[in-house]
Amino acid sequence: MALDPAPRPTDQDAPRPGLENLLQEDRRFPPDAAFADQANVHAEVYSWANSDRLGFWADQARALLDWAAPFHEVLDWTGAPVARWFADGRLNAAYNAVDRHVEAGNGDRVALHFEGEPGDTRTLTYADLQREVAKAANALTALGVGTGDRVAIYLPLIPETVIAMLACARIGAPHSVVFGGFSAEALHTRILDADAHVVITADGGYRRGTASALKPTVDEALSKGSADVVRHVLVVRRTGQDVPWTEGRDVWWHDVVDTASEQHDPVPLEAEHPLFILYTSGTTGKPKGIFHTTGGYLTQAAWTHRNVFDLKPETDVYWCTADVGWVTGHTYVVYGPLVNGATQVIYEGTPDTPHRGRWWEIVQKYGVSILYTAPTAIRTCMKWGEDVPAEFDLSSLRVLGSVGEPINPEAWTWYRRVIGGDRTPVVDTWWQTETGAIMISPLPGVTAAKPGSAQTPLPGIAADVVDDDAKPVPDGGGGYLVLTEPWPSMLRGIWGDEQRFRDTYWSRFAGIYFAGDGAKKDDDGDIWLLGRVDDVMNVSGHRLSTTEIESALVSHPSVAEAAVVGATDDTTGQAVVAFVILRGDAAASSPEETATELRAHVARQIGPIAKPRTILVVPELPKTRSGKIMRRLLRDVAEHREVGDATTLADSSVMDLIQQGLAAPK
Ligand code: WT7
Repeated sequence: MALDPAPRPTDQDAPRPGLENLLQEDRRFPPDAAFADQANVHAEVYSWANSDRLGFWADQARALLDWAAPFHEVLDWTGAPVARWFADGRLNAAYNAVDRHVEAGNGDRVALHFEGEPGDTRTLTYADLQREVAKAANALTALGVGTGDRVAIYLPLIPETVIAMLACARIGAPHSVVFGGFSAEALHTRILDADAHVVITADGGYRRGTASALKPTVDEALSKGSADVVRHVLVVRRTGQDVPWTEGRDVWWHDVVDTASEQHDPVPLEAEHPLFILYTSGTTGKPKGIFHTTGGYLTQAAWTHRNVFDLKPETDVYWCTADVGWVTGHTYVVYGPLVNGATQVIYEGTPDTPHRGRWWEIVQKYGVSILYTAPTAIRTCMKWGEDVPAEFDLSSLRVLGSVGEPINPEAWTWYRRVIGGDRTPVVDTWWQTETGAIMISPLPGVTAAKPGSAQTPLPGIAADVVDDDAKPVPDGGGGYLVLTEPWPSMLRGIWGDEQRFRDTYWSRFAGIYFAGDGAKKDDDGDIWLLGRVDDVMNVSGHRLSTTEIESALVSHPSVAEAAVVGATDDTTGQAVVAFVILRGDAAASSPEETATELRAHVARQIGPIAKPRTILVVPELPKTRSGKIMRRLLRDVAEHREVGDATTLADSSVMDLIQQGLAAPK
């Protein structure tokens, strides 16, 4: 398949139908006076940052981080689009996240309240974390990991995951965390792409009440060819289940970490030293290894975590429900909160195990005061009913955050009323794996919030909505979201593929960053995000590529051709709907059997999160004369709408054929 290297907005350009009501929302929620008074930042922060953007970020970098060697230059943009922030400074991320809090006398402060799905708990103070991270860093060094080497991490959400990431950071070994729900195939390609010599995993983790194995998936991944690059697999015992074992290669965490020395000097690294690689779906079949560096990333992670959530590290209990397999877990479970010295909750399992009040029970138990979660979770809770959270004391909550996709005003107002007791600010935070940290969001003590809108670029951030010619649209207009100035936590590239980095983000509009999101400005100039304009879907706040799922489908022997669209879904935001043309002999088996087999195949290829909700067997796909699939028309079918303008199809009867086939009794 020929792939256009520069993602042009496609026929998915029109805002998703379910989101139109966003723009009719006119309720306002200004912060109450008491909250505004005690807030970390006030309205002046915008004028300060806007009058001297670089000076603002330099001040934040100095105030929020400890530097082993100070920086003198703030931003070097001469190599654009690859930015260098604070480049002549040196620092260590793990030292900033852990040691310095102990040195400042806060070693007894709880860093992590861990809640396992089965109900087991562990509490780690900053002093505990320092010992564990130092031991793990020594163990990794003993396994041959040096500064600059990549380490793959494939773990459930347990304390060792945070420890492993920080241990990598401590020695300057960029980590590549692969979400535990991804398949062996996905893990294999990520190990190869990053050339990771060590994989850190666990025997398994708890999910929906059962011990679900991870280690066999690692073995399967290595059997696909990555065994040549991987020298060691470091295995945490979490569930106690039996694991396949390769002598010499596999080592138990408790054998090598628990016995290691607690003394380890963090390595002072250049501010531009790569901190991590995180793969995310793009518009082609191959995931992009987005990589972030140290000084700028930590600066923006810490600033946004402190000020978007109004964090008071001494008193707040913070909880972000994301898994560390996603960027939200990197920035708002690991680096932001720990650099700020916060106390936080991490929870291994699903929200409904063993009952639908589990999250609210956790909020009550730990006195959670700041909660950061995704619209899909909020909508799921809405479905379960407000009597579930009503059974728990949620009065400790004082700030609520949302991330991952546009939040519909109904979910926003429900979140504030039912979870926030009609009292808490709600911050809708827009950002991406690529941006590294929050970019557009209200500030809870400053902004009069509008349900459904992320509203305002943060201080020191320059965003706009532009038309096809890169011209800013007037208030009331719609177009593409762009970022017009470099920001500290911006991605520094796609691992091993600088050309793709330039093509994907910097070629649509010369010199400015193309985010891939459609957006509108309302009459006040506030920004409303309207979903992706490229072939990327957002399912439960997770990014999935239509092309990647199509490739997985056509790799099945029964499938001749496939087209995938994201259809609006009440709970998950979008859902994967696949249209497939079967090969001659496969067409004989029942559509139900075929669909079951294909869904399992996609789960094996990518992971269960990519499984199509619906698979429709069709005789043809709608294509333009140049052979491009018109997904817009398929989305109309998937969303049970009248099919839109089909006049540019090569064969205009195709849509009739598809619909007749679908209407026919099975
Ligand atoms: C895409 C980035 C950022 C962490 C989670 C997802 C969508 C994210 C919002 C929001 C509207 C949002 C965008 C963006 N998105 N947050 N508050 N309002 N849309 O990270 O997997 O890199 O996905 O998620 O479409 O481009 P990601």
